[in-house]
Amino acid sequence: MDKLKTLFAAVLSLGMAAEASLGVVQTEGGSVQGQNIPLGLYRSVDVFKGIPFAAKPGTFEKPKPHPGWNGILKATKFAQRCLQMSMLQTTSFGSEDCLYLNIWVPHGQKVSSNLPVMIWLYGGGFFVGGSMGPNFLNNYLYSGQEIADKGNVIVVSVGYRVGTLGFLSTGDSRLPGNYGLWDQHAAIAWVNRNIRSFGGDPDNITIFGESAGGAGVSFQTLSPHSKGLFKRAISQSGVAFCPWALNRNPRKVAEEVCHSVGCPTDDRMAACLKSLDVEEFSLSGHFSISGTPPAVASYPGVKNLSLSPVVDGDFLPDQPGNLFHNAAEIDYLAGVNNMDGYLFTSKDIPSLGDKNQDTLVEDIKRLLAAYTKETGQAGLEIAFAEYSSNWGSTPTQTTIKTAAVDIGTDYLFLVPTQTAIVQHAANAKSGRTYSYLLSEPSLLAGPGKPYHDWVGADHADDLQYVFGKPFTTPKAYGGRQRDLSGYIIAYWTNFARTGNPNKGNLKVPVTWPEFTSTGQQFLDINAKMNASSIGQEMRQRFVHLWTSTLPSLPSHAQ
Ligand SMILES: *[C@@H]1O[C@H](CO)[C@@H](O)[C@H](O)[C@H]1NC(C)=O
Ligand SMILES: *[C@@H]1O[C@H](CO)[C@@H](O)[C@H](O)[C@H]1NC(C)=O
Ligand SMILES: *[C@@H]1O[C@H](CO)[C@@H](O)[C@H](O)[C@H]1NC(C)=O
Repeated sequence: MDKLKTLFAAVLSLGMAAEASLGVVQTEGGSVQGQNIPLGLYRSVDVFKGIPFAAKPGTFEKPKPHPGWNGILKATKFAQRCLQMSMLQTTSFGSEDCLYLNIWVPHGQKVSSNLPVMIWLYGGGFFVGGSMGPNFLNNYLYSGQEIADKGNVIVVSVGYRVGTLGFLSTGDSRLPGNYGLWDQHAAIAWVNRNIRSFGGDPDNITIFGESAGGAGVSFQTLSPHSKGLFKRAISQSGVAFCPWALNRNPRKVAEEVCHSVGCPTDDRMAACLKSLDVEEFSLSGHFSISGTPPAVASYPGVKNLSLSPVVDGDFLPDQPGNLFHNAAEIDYLAGVNNMDGYLFTSKDIPSLGDKNQDTLVEDIKRLLAAYTKETGQAGLEIAFAEYSSNWGSTPTQTTIKTAAVDIGTDYLFLVPTQTAIVQHAANAKSGRTYSYLLSEPSLLAGPGKPYHDWVGADHADDLQYVFGKPFTTPKAYGGRQRDLSGYIIAYWTNFARTGNPNKGNLKVPVTWPEFTSTGQQFLDINAKMNASSIGQEMRQRFVHLWTSTLPSLPSHAQ
């Protein structure tokens, strides 16, 4: 009996030792208390949900500091998403009061201090999305718990305004736009000022994001306003150069919004837009997407008509290509999924994803024609010749369909990302550059599954691996996916810790060489990596086509 008691006491004291916790934390706005989740012996994570980093924003205004609160804020529930449209684009949900962030802090036997910090910016085409991501019951896609625990880093995820409320711009000082980017900026600055109280190192902040979030990361690195706020950045499948990431004709979009909500398009425009009911208003942008954002090729104004960031002369003082000197001290890791374009291209060419339907060469030409519109027939012919150069006289369906996916992937993601990587490396001083291609086959591909056998990593496939879902929901995945997820978390968190994905707390399967202007090395990431996973000059012929050959042709007025 006594023995049992001693054992019981020992177990109890171990249990208590395992629960290192920050308890109540002082922030600039007041004190906050999260929740401590034990993860095992001497391992736990403190989770803070819904901490305000700014006040409820005024419509079409920059975020303002939060006035603060009395007493202890219970930070145990995610805040509402920023007001946005539903999937069917017929109703809106969320709140204007949405500038909140969430924090995951891992602890060992002792309470952590001086940990590297990773701040997540969600994707969703600058149109939809939330800091916690979509969920199945209590399992949220963007829970930072696995990354925090495995990589021993602090993970923060932040809310920012999207759609009309986040990005409507009249193209002048009346409604300059970029409110969503200012929100991201305010959140990063808040983390920089407050994260030390949570055990974080403000000198070791990495921002990371996917799709529109990856482009957001890219814009944050290019803005002169970000100086000194963070050291490193990761863009997954999205950069400032993506054709969907920058709105080059915001006035036209604003006028279309005015038409749809009944506002005049003269001097009274801004005042009228500001006076509208925001809920109705957040639906007014629905004309601009004909499928899941980014806008699909069949939409004629793919480069112009979207609610996305703009060159406003303030957050972005110039075209992205002229702002890379602002990122010279930033370590930058960026890449794409090898079939990032699959989702979007199969909306443009419905036969593409259908196992029982052939895709015609004419379909490919139609897709290319939409993307090469500015250079007319000459551009189309050159581009088609390039994409069909290995077809022979009787291309198989797999050949035709994969060419279509390549076109979408190259145009929407891969080529713009290569351009950003080359620019970063060319302008870097202390900043390093790393490039990747994720080539893990889709989990939906194969015999008896919905996708063709050949489908690789589709858009957003990386999210589950980055956020460690194969560990959170082991039954939904196999060992292969756990290997891959472990590799990615190792590279990403090592990079956050040291600026080098190979060096840090976690072992990596293959040494990832730095991208240099001369070598142009990249890492091919999948579950079966080995020494041959290092590539050079990613899809160089096609990068050359889109960045050099086509732009040098005479442009037709649209
Ligand atoms: C970041 O953290 C690493 C490891 O803890 C440390 O060596 C480094 O000095 C920190 N600061 C910066 C700016 O990298
Ligand atoms: C797109 O924007 C460019 C640059 O502002 C402009 O020249 C072009 O006419 C616009 N195209 C459309 C379809 O609005
Ligand atoms: C690397 O893996 C690939 C695919 O699994 C295999 O074909 C190749 O032989 C391996 N190379 C080396 C150097 O081990």
